[in-house]
Amino acid sequence: MKYIIAIIKPSRLDDTHAALTEIGISGLTVTEVRGYGRQRGQTEIYRGAEYSIAFVPKVKLEIAVDDKIADDVVDTIRKAAHTDKIGDGKIFILDLKDALRIRTNEMGVDALN
Ligand SMILES: Nc1ncnc2c1ncn2[C@@H]1O[C@H](COP(=O)(O)OP(=O)(O)OP(=O)(O)O)[C@@H](O)[C@H]1O
Ligand SMILES: [Mg+2]
Repeated sequence: MKYIIAIIKPSRLDDTHAALTEIGISGLTVTEVRGYGRQRGQTEIYRGAEYSIAFVPKVKLEIAVDDKIADDVVDTIRKAAHTDKIGDGKIFILDLKDALRIRTNEMGVDALN
């Protein structure tokens, strides 16, 4: 199993969510987060001085998936979240050791689907 963490632009959430639903993703976690990449956030001019806004609002998606569909999920997010501008975000792919559905005690892939 893989645990996929994607940091994307908030404006891409709806389309990305729709695309993930289309490929059959049945559960995910969404969090509003803030961060920056190599541009270290945006900069803005205020009263003649340049102030840096260190943290830019982003959305974090977290999805636990079977290995079989991990590539498809990553590709779906990549396409749906892409605007070709800086700050489009990143996808981190982690090995997931186990999962457990609390209600039924199912483990592993059975806990996901
Ligand atoms: N190395 C990192 N570790 C954790 N989170 C990161 C990392 N790099 C970027 N992020 C998160 O992803 C968000 C978007 O990053 P961003 O797309 O600006 O990366 P970038 O490397 O600057 O690429 P680009 O040049 O396309 O802007 C950041 O606001 C931050 O939340
Ligand atoms: Mg950036």
